[in-house]
Amino acid sequence: MKKLIIIGGYGNGTVVQSTVEDINQVKPEWELLGFLNDNEKKPINGYPVLGGIDKVTVNKYLLDDTVYFFYSLISVKLNHKFLFKLLDLEIPKKKFATLIHPTAVVSKHAEIGHGVCIQPFVSIGPNTTIGNFVQIFAQSLVGHGAKLDDYSYVANNACIGADVHLKEGAYLGTNATTLEYVTLGKWSITGIGAVVLKDVDDYTKVVGSPARVIGSTK
Ligand SMILES: CC(C)(COP(=O)(O)OP(=O)(O)OC[C@H]1O[C@@H](n2cnc3c(N)ncnc32)[C@H](O)[C@@H]1OP(=O)(O)O)[C@@H](O)C(=O)NCCC(=O)NCCS
Repeated sequence: MKKLIIIGGYGNGTVVQSTVEDINQVKPEWELLGFLNDNEKKPINGYPVLGGIDKVTVNKYLLDDTVYFFYSLISVKLNHKFLFKLLDLEIPKKKFATLIHPTAVVSKHAEIGHGVCIQPFVSIGPNTTIGNFVQIFAQSLVGHGAKLDDYSYVANNACIGADVHLKEGAYLGTNATTLEYVTLGKWSITGIGAVVLKDVDDYTKVVGSPARVIGSTK
């Protein structure tokens, strides 16, 4: 079995943990060694906290070829801050696990990067390109030909139309829907329930139906 360390904790980290457990029920694949977390020292859902989110702790595990990491820290308004934390760790991309829940339906014609988590009942269409460190939450749909760049995030029940482009770090809220061919700009935020009919600029926050700009994410 490969070994896995989840960087994060309660919240997204435990959702990832749950996905790992479900994968193992179908076919044992991952030994979950535990979490890295700056705020918690006690076990999380029965898994130990191995240390803080820092290079000293990471380096202890980096030389072991069987150990992989998953970076689960995401927050709608703090994604930039969390990205710096990830980059500071200097973990090679290939050391990040990609985790696909057994109930997800992923086209064999989809391309998927490192450090990606695809959660329960997600559907990924053909000819999609999912970059690195992308997380797609339960029951979301990614239409054919869509492109999700690195660090983009899709909350649950979102519906991404065909050939839509989520640029780096774009955040799509719960139940949001996008018309085909639109582009969501870099580090933009689309609020829950939005209906996006036209492109969203980089670092822009939109909400509502049809989606309207309410501010900047900078
Ligand atoms: C968009 C969002 C980030 C809030 O951004 P914000 O800058 O803090 O916005 P505010 O809460 O200050 O609201 C600003 C205005 O937008 C409105 N608004 C905020 N979010 C909205 C939404 N999703 N849909 C419609 N209107 C919304 C507010 O009512 C407010 O309107 P007002 O000025 O007329 O009073 C947040 O509402 C959101 O949708 N987050 C996504 C959450 C999510 O998907 N989580 C998934 C993981 S659980």
